[in-house]
Amino acid sequence: MFVDTTVDRLSGHAGGTVRLRGWVRGVRRGGKVCFIELRDGSGVCQCVVEAAREQAFHAAAALTQEASIETTGTVRREPRAPGGWEVAVEELTLVGAAAEYPISRKAHGIEFLMANRHLWLRSSRPWTILRIRHTLVAACRGFLDAQGFTLVDTPILTPGAGEDAQALFPVDFFGRQAFLAQTGQLYLEAACMALGRVYCFGPTFRAEKSKTRRHLAEFWMVEPEMAFATLEDDMRLTEEMVCHAVRTVLERHAADLEALGRDLEPLRRVAAPFPRISYSEAVGLLRGADTQRKLQVELDRDRARLEALDAELRAADAELGLAPAGRRREALAQRRHELSEEIEDLRNDVENRPEHIRLAQSFEWGKDLGGSDETIVSRQFDRPVFVTHYPREAKAFYMKQDPDDPRVVRNMDLLAPEGYGEIVGGSQREDDPVAMAQRMTEMGLVPEDYGWYMDLRRFGSVPHAGFGLGIERTLVWICGLKHVREAIPFPRTMGRMTP
Ligand code: 4AD
Ligand code: MG
Repeated sequence: MFVDTTVDRLSGHAGGTVRLRGWVRGVRRGGKVCFIELRDGSGVCQCVVEAAREQAFHAAAALTQEASIETTGTVRREPRAPGGWEVAVEELTLVGAAAEYPISRKAHGIEFLMANRHLWLRSSRPWTILRIRHTLVAACRGFLDAQGFTLVDTPILTPGAGEDAQALFPVDFFGRQAFLAQTGQLYLEAACMALGRVYCFGPTFRAEKSKTRRHLAEFWMVEPEMAFATLEDDMRLTEEMVCHAVRTVLERHAADLEALGRDLEPLRRVAAPFPRISYSEAVGLLRGADTQRKLQVELDRDRARLEALDAELRAADAELGLAPAGRRREALAQRRHELSEEIEDLRNDVENRPEHIRLAQSFEWGKDLGGSDETIVSRQFDRPVFVTHYPREAKAFYMKQDPDDPRVVRNMDLLAPEGYGEIVGGSQREDDPVAMAQRMTEMGLVPEDYGWYMDLRRFGSVPHAGFGLGIERTLVWICGLKHVREAIPFPRTMGRMTP
């Protein structure tokens, strides 16, 4: 008799007979023994089939990559096996045969992998990232639940812009025009007047024509909103939630992060309170002679590094030209591929940097910070940093004008360190009906279109504040990824809608 189990639970079945069900990552065949690398979603384990088990040995010999199987056998300790446990196979059944699998151990380009995202998800890197994503989402939700927030689901079909009127996805709504939600915030403002502390967590949509490593057309956002709260309360909640999320991921996924190549030290440094600088200070930082000098030194250093990598690539090419077919050649080819990707990234970066430095140097007070400006600012800090009090004209209509300086609003962006940039945007909301109507008119919005939203300012208006944390951008930072497309199972970007 056997018990059904999964790879992550094998240690609880030492010496017992179990059944595993999963897919074949690889098979190594020998005359007397056959090793199957089995993955079942929970992990990967080695299954050993001895020739004496004739039926199983015969079935194993015919397996191809990604065939699905059921196997029963005994669990035994094997320090050399991945995970430290292996299964000595007694029976093995093919569930579904696999045609020649397009993704092999050899190096593939990112475009090919993205086009095969439905299959690529089975590889260890996407698998690892998706599991960390799950932990991140659960940590954010768990944190808010424990702080007394009520989940309120906000609509996806909405009549107008929540953030940027230029970036709306239109849909036909029974003959009328509707748009996919850019944020749940406006509805949360209504809900927080009913429930005090609320949050939504859902997909949001932006038709921004941006092909950058930070932009998705569809992304997921956690948005808390609090009644009787100011910008300071908002920042405290943000830093506590971010610290909790990072700590939880570190506790459960330190080995996973290292497998992704993430340096854990910067994550271990994440602790509240985060530094706070005003937008005006950030502008001073961008234009400052000190920063400019530092940027130039970094650029020179990276140019030198690019030359060194180029030389290394030429050497790898020469070596590859002489290497005979076999495992060593495969490893060399893999190394060459990684090197050429690194070179391409660095070359792009080094080519763009003079323009970024110029933009920073000539940055004019009043503009929103661009992606490269955020990178520069966030690289001056070793932990996440709040940039607060942006100029009114650079930000959304709902942000509260600062009573101490009417040119700015009571808002904050949280920039992740190491150059990752904005992961959270939040603000105290305008709670005064007159100021709100005036602001809308200035921005070409019609206050009458926002009748119900204006009602919130007419019936017991209170100071209130909230923020939105982008799950993908946060995951990119925590996992140390280069691009948001790897942080979501099926990315929608300007250039891609399939699979
Ligand atoms: O700064 P944003 O636009 O703020 C809002 O939507 C507010 N209504 C939130 C609130 O106060 N309730 O977006 C918030 C976050 C950003 O900091 C970023 O992490 C993420 O959402 N984000 C994107 N992520 C991926 N692709 C895009 N195109 C994104 N746009 C914003
Ligand atoms: Mg923002």
